Amino acid sequence: MRRTVFVVTLALIVALLCPIVVWAADLSGDWIATAPRPDGGQSQLMFRLTQDGTRLTGILSLPSRDLAIQDGQVSGADFSFSVQAMFGDNARTLRYAGTLSGTTVTLIAPAPNGGTRTFTGRRATAAESAANWPERVPPPALHPVPDNGLARTPPMGWNSWNHFHGQVDDKTIRETADAMVANGMRAAGYLYVNIDDTWEGTRDAQGNIQTNSKFPDMKALADYVHSKGLKIGIYSSPGTKTCAGFEGSYGHEEQDARIYAAWGIDYLKYDWCSAGKIYQDSDMQAVYQKMGDALRATGRPIVYSLCQYGREQVWEWGPEVGGNLWRTTGDISDHWKSMIGIAGKQEGLEQWSKPGHWNDPDMLEVGNGGMSDTEYRTHFTLWCILAAPLLAGNDLRNASRSTLDLLENPEAIAIDQDSLGRQGRRVSQNGKTMVWARQLADGSQAVALVNEDDKPGTVAVSWSQLGLRGSLLVRDLWTLRDLGRIAGGFSREVPSHGVVLIRVRVSEAKPRG
Ligand code: GLA
Repeated sequence: MRRTVFVVTLALIVALLCPIVVWAADLSGDWIATAPRPDGGQSQLMFRLTQDGTRLTGILSLPSRDLAIQDGQVSGADFSFSVQAMFGDNARTLRYAGTLSGTTVTLIAPAPNGGTRTFTGRRATAAESAANWPERVPPPALHPVPDNGLARTPPMGWNSWNHFHGQVDDKTIRETADAMVANGMRAAGYLYVNIDDTWEGTRDAQGNIQTNSKFPDMKALADYVHSKGLKIGIYSSPGTKTCAGFEGSYGHEEQDARIYAAWGIDYLKYDWCSAGKIYQDSDMQAVYQKMGDALRATGRPIVYSLCQYGREQVWEWGPEVGGNLWRTTGDISDHWKSMIGIAGKQEGLEQWSKPGHWNDPDMLEVGNGGMSDTEYRTHFTLWCILAAPLLAGNDLRNASRSTLDLLENPEAIAIDQDSLGRQGRRVSQNGKTMVWARQLADGSQAVALVNEDDKPGTVAVSWSQLGLRGSLLVRDLWTLRDLGRIAGGFSREVPSHGVVLIRVRVSEAKPRG
């Protein structure tokens, strides 16, 4: 009898509490939602929620990072939360609002252009959760990866991202390779044709990475690019997803490196992106070393480009992990402010650039339309002074002659490719004008006089600022004219946002040969 009373009471308590428990746990768990992208693909979001009454906590998982949910609230079937995201150096609060209807969740998310995007989704399967939040495989112990002997001068070529973003495909790459042969870019030294993010498909049953439908046959594409006397590059991430949300190399590093080598790939850009969901920043060196080892193990010469936006003083350990170049900042955009800001951030990193190992201030924007020709000339000049990789980022299939003249200036390129491999330094900053100089192998120096002001201004350098004296031979590297011997120093009126690039030497260059 007492037992029956106990069971009935318990059943009553459960029956009474059950709706509360069910209601309270409604949104808890992992969710996956997608929205159509303008390029025809799908953007994906995952979120892990814990509901406690009307309070909601958890993580919003973007392709490249996890963000903690703040101010999460539930009201009936509706819920909302916000996250703090960094855009460059600025933190912004992004607000999300959702509704649960049956098993379908709808989430209205802020769009990059200021509007909103509607994601629709459902509870994630265990496999989807595990793919997004995988178990952390500890990265291997640190050890130096031997130098691969590549990139004795800064790599030169082209990369798809700055102009094409997700719109790159097999046809674009073939046409770009053709254009580089026809328009003089190859002859000027631009060798690598690099496919950035969005080539990746899914993995087959054996875990082999496949291309997506935009790239039907990567081996055939590599053969085509090679047949043009050019080399081909590819892109991946140590995380589960690339920055654009495509398949990354996590857990498949050696396998991916072997596949790239089998395709005939000559260059890998390896972009941190979602790796921050699995690793700490302090793991970066070991994580990059893992791919450095994997590339080396293939036996194929593959230039290794590290892309983690200059975190963790990458210049101090980039060479140790087998890196040939490493990004020093966040992404460039096609604006004067972005470009000139990035150039300034290279100051102080001079000692880390050397043959085989280069600071990378990001790809060129020359010819993409967001800056004037004057500003692009300053961009290109500074990149040459900085011994930066010269990866054109424009549409080379229909580049204007003025853009090509800029990218193909042999004497500016010779500064970038100088065999001493010493990065230039800022010699002076005088209000809105500045002078940068670079020591060259033959004892001469390249000097850039830059005017950051929004009006023309005079920029001057004295030979003593370069550690030189007397009367020097001066050549203007944009007009390609000798200016004769000049005593004491050099000064010029420079247009707003413009540059004058000169090469100065003490005595006549010795005839070659
Ligand atoms: C990051 C990189 C860019 C580009 C994109 C691709 O933002 O810094 O250079 O590779 O990812 O998604």
